[in-house]
Amino acid sequence: MQPIKYELIKTCKQTGARLGRVTTPHGSFETPIFMPVGTLATVKTMSPEDLHDMNAKIILSNTYHLWLRPGEEIIREAGGLHKFMNWDGAILTDSGGFQVFSLSDMREIEEEGVHFRNHLSGEKLFLTPEKAMHIQNALSSDIMMAFDECPPYPASYEYMKNSVERTSRWAERCLQAHERKDVQGLFGIVQGGEYEDLRKQSAADLTSLDFPGYAVGGLSVGEPKEVMNRVLDFTTPHLPTNKPRYLMGVGSPDSLIDGAIRGIDMFDCVLPTRIARNGTCMTSEGRLVIRNAKYARDFRPIDEHCDCYACKNYSRAYIRHLMKCNETFGFRLTTYHNLYFLLKLMEQVREAIKEDRLGDFREAFFEQYGFNKP
Ligand code: GUN
Ligand code: ZN
Repeated sequence: MQPIKYELIKTCKQTGARLGRVTTPHGSFETPIFMPVGTLATVKTMSPEDLHDMNAKIILSNTYHLWLRPGEEIIREAGGLHKFMNWDGAILTDSGGFQVFSLSDMREIEEEGVHFRNHLSGEKLFLTPEKAMHIQNALSSDIMMAFDECPPYPASYEYMKNSVERTSRWAERCLQAHERKDVQGLFGIVQGGEYEDLRKQSAADLTSLDFPGYAVGGLSVGEPKEVMNRVLDFTTPHLPTNKPRYLMGVGSPDSLIDGAIRGIDMFDCVLPTRIARNGTCMTSEGRLVIRNAKYARDFRPIDEHCDCYACKNYSRAYIRHLMKCNETFGFRLTTYHNLYFLLKLMEQVREAIKEDRLGDFREAFFEQYGFNKP
C-alpha cells in the first residue's frame, strides 16, 4: 500500500499548470503548494499553531541537521518528528544530499557515500544512501527524499554525467534500504544540471524505479532564471503525470508561478523566513525593507492588501522599531507575514488554474510586483 497518493484534478487551459491533490498519512492538500522550512524541527519563530492558522499543510525538515542535533535516535524515542515537535500536519524531510554539499567543507565523494566534516564541531562524518534512509525512517516523515548529489553550477558535462549516474545508483540503494514503505513515501530526485539529455536520462532512470513522487534538484544554485525555466521546460515532460513533482529550494514569488506553469506541484525554500529575519517583507507590490527610515512614522500595515495576523494588528512603524531593537517579536511578525503571503499566493495560483486563467494572473502579478519594470 502506497502511503502517498496523487490525484490530478485539472490542468490550466491557458498554461498547462496542474491542480492536484496529494494525500499523506498526516492529511491531504491541494497543489501547487509551498512548504515552509523547519530545518531544526521548528519553522524559526513560528509555533505549530501559527502554521495551522496560516493554513500551512506540509513543512520541510532536514535529515542532516537532525542527525547532528539532537540525533535521530532521540526523535525515534519521542515517537517520531511529528510528536517531537507537536506538528500533526505532513512533513517532508530532505535527505542531507544537498546540505552535505552546501554546508560542509572537505567533502569527498566516493561510490559508497560522502565523507565530510560536521559544520559545527569539525568532526569527520560519512553519509551514505543507507544511512540517509535509516535516519529518515527514524524521523518518520511522511515524505522522505533519496540521497543524491547536487553538483555546483556550472559543472562540466563530463562531471555531471558521472554524477547523474551515481545519483541513479544511490536512488536504487535508497529504495532497497527504506524499511517503512507502508507508512513513508520516498521521492526520487532528478539531477543533470543544464544538460537536456542528462535530465532526460536521470528522469528515465528514476521513473523506472517507480517512486511515488519525483523532485527536480540541482536548481536555484546560482543559475540565471532563464536557465531554470529552460531546464524545467525540458525536464517535467519526462516525469509521469500521475505522481507529484517537487522543485527543490525554490521560493521567490516569480519562480513559484513560473514553476507551476511548467508542471511543478510542490516547492520549498528558506527565502521567506530567512529574509523576514533581516527585515525584508514580500508584498503584492514587491519587497519592502522594513528597517528603512522612511517607515519610522508609517502606521500602515506591511501590506495593505494582506489580512494576516501581522498586517491586521501591527504597523510598519512598530515592526521597524522592533527590528531595529532586535526584539524577537519583530522576527515573528515578519516571518508570519512572509509565509502567509506565499501560502496565499499559491492559493491564488490554484484558483487561477481552476478557472483556466493562470497566464492572466501571472501577467497581473508580475506587473504589480515590479518584475516587468526595466
Ligand atoms: N535542496 C535544493 N536543491 C536540492 C537538491 O538538488 N538535492 C537535495 N537533496 N536537496 C536540495
Ligand atoms: Zn501580512
